[in-house]
Amino acid sequence: MTFRLFYAIALGMMSVAVLGLAEPAQETPGVKRMPFGKTKDGHPVDLYTLTNGNGMEVTITNYGGTVVSLKTPDRKGKFADVVLGFDTFDGYLGNEPYFGALIGRYGNRIAKGRFTLDGHEYHLAQNDNANSLHGGLKGFDKRVWSAKEMPAKDLAALQLSYVSKDGEEGYPGNLSVTVNYSLTPNNELKIDYAATTDKDTVLNLTNHSYFNLAGQGQGDILTHRMMIDADRFTPVDSTLIPTGELKSVAGTPLDFRKATAIGARIDQNDEQLKFGKGYDHNFVLHRQNGGLTMAARVTEPSSGRVMEVLTTEPGLQFYTGNFLDGTIHGKGAKVYGRRSAFCMETQHFPDSPNQPKFPSTVLKPGQQYQSTTVYRFSVE
Ligand code: BGC
Repeated sequence: MTFRLFYAIALGMMSVAVLGLAEPAQETPGVKRMPFGKTKDGHPVDLYTLTNGNGMEVTITNYGGTVVSLKTPDRKGKFADVVLGFDTFDGYLGNEPYFGALIGRYGNRIAKGRFTLDGHEYHLAQNDNANSLHGGLKGFDKRVWSAKEMPAKDLAALQLSYVSKDGEEGYPGNLSVTVNYSLTPNNELKIDYAATTDKDTVLNLTNHSYFNLAGQGQGDILTHRMMIDADRFTPVDSTLIPTGELKSVAGTPLDFRKATAIGARIDQNDEQLKFGKGYDHNFVLHRQNGGLTMAARVTEPSSGRVMEVLTTEPGLQFYTGNFLDGTIHGKGAKVYGRRSAFCMETQHFPDSPNQPKFPSTVLKPGQQYQSTTVYRFSVE
């Protein structure tokens, strides 16, 4: 190596160290495990750190399959954690709104906590006024999952599995669920969901990460620009249960077919926005094919961060953190105020078990439930 080259490299490394541009450090793709805490009934849980070799890093705990942190670079290469959550495990044991968690058996609402399948009426916990929300009192977000670090050449992958017993939270069938989280060389967090049952049941799995692309705790998300590839949405009643109609977004504040600031219309005098206290709606994705399709693209102007959401699911619940109220203090003691994050919950439509015209969420013995969602990060 010539002296000049050596000098240039040394200078480069020094300026990176001074400006703090290169953290977290570049590493080979992989998964590391460390203890995270213990549940109230004494089960130890771990925190897994997935790195992809580009510096992108995600931490996931096997408690609730929860994404705890997600570090991505801005347009200057500076990393920030773009999801809400807690620094320590205790935070996840309190009353918190599903930060980063896997949601099951049924993501979103089931009206009056009831549905009929094969002539039998099933009763679920009514944990959201009269409705059942996100799997009931002790959903998948509050379960300890078995974890396995998956050997993979180019990516970091973690496999989580959980067996939900027949009758758990009122749902029928012994259900075996596997969720694979992987961090790819293209700065994608990929989530593959799979499940089988031994009795007819209903299922709607999703992830409930709260994103703020300026960095968690950096104010509200109203200047983020959102594009959702959906011509229609499922309008709801005042309890956020779909009316059954698939309504055109045209001429409504739910038209995100062209990228629009989240805050541009959020407080308009619109019945749907009033019911949701902002956006809290399921969009009917415009699917070009049966496979993985681009559903949404979000940009944050000050950092330049971009997140694209691709999914095999027919719907997307876009929720703007309307119920966050500043009482939760999260990572780095940041206060999580109203609309300080948004969720992009890829899913089947809410209340499908009671809506014969919606795509079916029934899973039968012998069938394989399979679903994939990708959160892809870049800058512009
Ligand atoms: C729902 C919101 C709810 C939030 C946290 C979202 O999926 O659509 O209505 O407040 O989850 O529970």
